[in-house]
Amino acid sequence: MKFFLDTANLEEIKRCATFGFLDGVTTNPSLMAREGISDQTARIEEICRVTEGPVSAEVLAVETEGMVAEAKTLADIAPNVAVKIPLTLPGLAATRELSDHGLAVNLTLVFSPLQALLAAKAGAAFVSPFVGRLDDIGADGMDLVESIVAIYNNYAFETEVIVASIRSPQHVLRAALIGADICTVPFKVIETLAAHPLTEKGLAAFLADHRKAADKRHNPSSH
Ligand code: G3P
Repeated sequence: MKFFLDTANLEEIKRCATFGFLDGVTTNPSLMAREGISDQTARIEEICRVTEGPVSAEVLAVETEGMVAEAKTLADIAPNVAVKIPLTLPGLAATRELSDHGLAVNLTLVFSPLQALLAAKAGAAFVSPFVGRLDDIGADGMDLVESIVAIYNNYAFETEVIVASIRSPQHVLRAALIGADICTVPFKVIETLAAHPLTEKGLAAFLADHRKAADKRHNPSSH
C-alpha cells in the first residue's frame, strides 16, 4: 500500500519525506486555505520539488471547459502533478478529455461505489473515496472502499483507490486489509501509526540496562 501525505504544509511534507515511506501528496482548496494560500501554483511547484510521487492539485472550475483549461495549467507545473477533479457529470467529461491526453486525473469527493465505477470508466488514474466524512454521517466509510476494490477487481480496472478523509489509524489498518492501493493520511495520523507504548517502554528499558552495564564497567568497585 502506498502512503500519500494529505497536506499543503511544506514542512510536514519535508519531514515526512525523511521517514522513508512517502509515496505522494494530496492537496485540496481547504488544505491550501489552511496554509493561507489562494494561488496554489507556487506551493504546488514547491511540493513537487520535494516529492517524487504524484502530487494532487485540485481545480476550482465547476464546468467541463474550465476544468480542462485549469487542469492543463496545473499539469504544466511539474510532470508529477495529478489533477484533482470533483466527481460530477462535468467532472467526468473533463476526466475523459484529460485522460485521453495522457494526464493523470484524481476524481475526488467520491461517496458511492457507482460514482467510483464511473470514475474508472472515464479513465481516472485515481479515485478518492472520503471515508471520514461518511463516518461523520453515521455510515461506514470503509464499506465503501471494500465495494470499490471489489468492483475494480471484477473488471480489472487500473484506476488506483486512494482512501481519503482518513481520521484514525483504524482507517489505515482497514484499508491495508482490504487491499486499497493508497492511503492519503494527515501528518498527525502518520505520527500515531509509528507509535506504540510497548515500543517506548521497551526502548527505555534497553537504554537503562545499557547504562547500568556501562556504569559497572567504569566503576567495578561501586557494585
Ligand atoms: O483528501 C481529502 C481530505 O483532505 C478530506 O479530509 O478530513 O476534510 O474530510 P477531511
